[in-house]
Amino acid sequence: MLSERVEITETLRDAWQGLPHAVPTAAKLTHIQRLLDAGFRSLDIGSFVSPKAVPAMADTGELPGVLRVPEGASLMALVANEKGLERFLEHPQLHEVLYPFSLSESFQQRNTRRSREDALHEVTRFAARAHESGRVFYTTISMAFGNNEGDAWSTSELVDWVGRLQDAGTDRLGLADTTAQADPERVAQAFEACRGVASSSPAAHLHCTLQTQHALVQAALDAGCRAFDAALGGLGGCQFAKGPESNVSTRELVQQCAQAGFDTGLADQDLDALDAAASSLAS
Ligand code: COA
Ligand code: ZN
Repeated sequence: MLSERVEITETLRDAWQGLPHAVPTAAKLTHIQRLLDAGFRSLDIGSFVSPKAVPAMADTGELPGVLRVPEGASLMALVANEKGLERFLEHPQLHEVLYPFSLSESFQQRNTRRSREDALHEVTRFAARAHESGRVFYTTISMAFGNNEGDAWSTSELVDWVGRLQDAGTDRLGLADTTAQADPERVAQAFEACRGVASSSPAAHLHCTLQTQHALVQAALDAGCRAFDAALGGLGGCQFAKGPESNVSTRELVQQCAQAGFDTGLADQDLDALDAAASSLAS
């Protein structure tokens, strides 16, 4: 019997955007190519945002044209405004637009200087543009499990926005624990609440320590989540997060999925070397 698939997106953007030094473009290219050659099929390679706001992502446009992208692999990059979308669309090698929406109104304003209502209008316009050129539109919902901005959180509000973002043209959704608010109960609550409304289970973008990762991932899997963002070496995390939390470690995630009987398309034995390579880029 075929094992059920769990999709893993290697989030190089989240791994690299908050580093104190920029990873050189040539080193990014070598690393990304190595991941594609090793079987990674979904990669978030950067963002088309203001280089003043996020200098480490300023070279994102130099990456797609040089990579050899195998059939079936998908490259995504983040877009937070019209200018970013135009820059994205110059690259036919990019498949998926990643748009950052925030369930917390305060964080939406702080991160992208828009209200949630304005962001929703952008989703409508941007998703239509993306679809015209054959791209997938992915919306990630930041602060999906709570926030440290003092804004109220409820599953009913989450479900309401999931529905509105889908109606606006979102093809795929992610639930992001931007500042590591979630515990396993909260993860289960959020994914279970989305079941009735999301056309497919959203992806999980969790921030954790190696000690807390297993229980959070298990709660998401148990609630039907079959897609995760992760980073080799557990690198990164939102630069706005204050704690020791980092991204879900790809190596541990692959092992956990394999033990639970899921197929990730990634071979456990390849990951030690890639993990070391990722960590050395960050040091
Ligand atoms: N690409 C390149 N430059 C951009 C840009 C883009 N997508 N968006 C804005 N800029 C530049 C503008 O050219 C302008 O530069 P100038 O000061 O030299 O004239 C400056 O940034 C401000 O532009 P403005 O139109 O006022 O931006 P805005 O207020 O509509 O939006 C954001 C600003 C949100 C796009 C910007 O703050 C940003 O990129 N933030 C990063 C968000 C992010 O990546 N968060 C982490 C991931 S969730
Ligand atoms: Zn993150």
